[in-house]
Amino acid sequence: MTAEPVTDSPWPLTSARDEAGRLTIGGVDVADLAAGHGTPLWVVDEDDLRTRCRAYVEAFPDVWVAYASKAWCAVGILQIVAEEGLWIDVVSGGELHTAAVAGVPMDRVVFHGSNKSLAELRSAAELGVGRIVADSFEELDRLEAVGTELDHTFRTWLRITPGIDAHTHDYTRTGHDDSKFGFTLSLGLADEAMRRTAELPHVDVLGIHAHIGSQIFGTDPFVANAEVMIGLLARWRDELGATLTECNLGGGMGIRYTTADDPVTVAEYGAAVLAAVDRACEEHDFPRPQLAVEPGRAIVAPAAVTLYEVGTIKRLPGLTTYVSVDGGMSDNIRPALYRAEHDVALVNRPAAGELEVCTVVGKHCESGDLVRDRVALPADLVAGDLLAVAATGAYTASMASNYNRLPRPAAVLVRAGAVRLLQRRETYADVVARDVVL
Ligand code: LLP
Repeated sequence: MTAEPVTDSPWPLTSARDEAGRLTIGGVDVADLAAGHGTPLWVVDEDDLRTRCRAYVEAFPDVWVAYASKAWCAVGILQIVAEEGLWIDVVSGGELHTAAVAGVPMDRVVFHGSNKSLAELRSAAELGVGRIVADSFEELDRLEAVGTELDHTFRTWLRITPGIDAHTHDYTRTGHDDSKFGFTLSLGLADEAMRRTAELPHVDVLGIHAHIGSQIFGTDPFVANAEVMIGLLARWRDELGATLTECNLGGGMGIRYTTADDPVTVAEYGAAVLAAVDRACEEHDFPRPQLAVEPGRAIVAPAAVTLYEVGTIKRLPGLTTYVSVDGGMSDNIRPALYRAEHDVALVNRPAAGELEVCTVVGKHCESGDLVRDRVALPADLVAGDLLAVAATGAYTASMASNYNRLPRPAAVLVRAGAVRLLQRRETYADVVARDVVL
């Protein structure tokens, strides 16, 4: 395994075509996986996942790299990522519980969330999570209350809204002033929060945090964020006499979903951010803080594909050819929610011959149930063919639902010809398990 995967493909690193033209991942024929485990199916390339963890750790030396588990929070995923030395970032009691079940060392857990409950904060204290990221004034009060009740001091970062507008989808930008997250810097809320914590003995503020958004291309917004954050630490030292020594610069690195996407490498991103931190520290004569970053998508998205079976093909002359698969918005809401595009490929046989522009849709009772709008697929596609959708490791399984009461798919991990189950397929019994028969 090389440290930094440099490829212009959105497909997992070990993807290949065998002599019969069938896709293999981790040395395993994906058509066999579909036959054995059914479809839809998430197939995770373990080498890809581990390689991206290592590349991040290498690109950010001496930095705490925390995996944003919201991207895909499954016990096996957290085990692998933690084994690679990453910290784990959680945003809810459920994610925290998953990390505990995965055996993640609790001092390497960061607890985020814009509205954490008293019960969640109590669990955090009882489990001894490494850092809490405080997001609001109410939460500071709740932290103090829980800390008093349980005789626990929370090691805390304040979430800063730094006023940086990353140009990404509206639903995935978080650093601009008008955001529900954090203490808005330009409105003086961050300063007020810092001052307030002086009166809260159970809230020990060690540092600050900012996450400016997700699927961001280029390095400029990250550099700007680093400059603002170091400037803030220096100003608080000068104006408030506060000496904070930790700084979390968030996640957000963009990845390749289709061959048209052109993200920077992790090495370029790391070098740009670390250089910006060093420049800012020098400018403000501030000692370099302990840094942290928290990638989610860039760790796990490229490692997985979703396999679907084609069920119907509807050709409307002069209009659209609809290819319907056996999953859709319940296992990948991203195209419906963000108009996200993922590459799609025929995988059970070679994709030779003529192509036809098709719109791949899901089986849900909703017109917005899109898998991929207007994509070239083999014109001889038939029902029973298998399609794979690329880069579905992040924010698909984690945002999956039972819409139309579809059971959620299984997920398998492949590596060097071996297959391990990561999550079993839901059953109809699971689907009705919470229902009460009156
Ligand atoms: N840190 C914080 C505080 C975050 O809110 C997020 C993502 C991350 C780190 C990780 O960001 P990443 O490296 O994955 O970009 N569902 C959307 C993405 C939502 C991102 C939410 N926060 C999608 O499917 O594109």
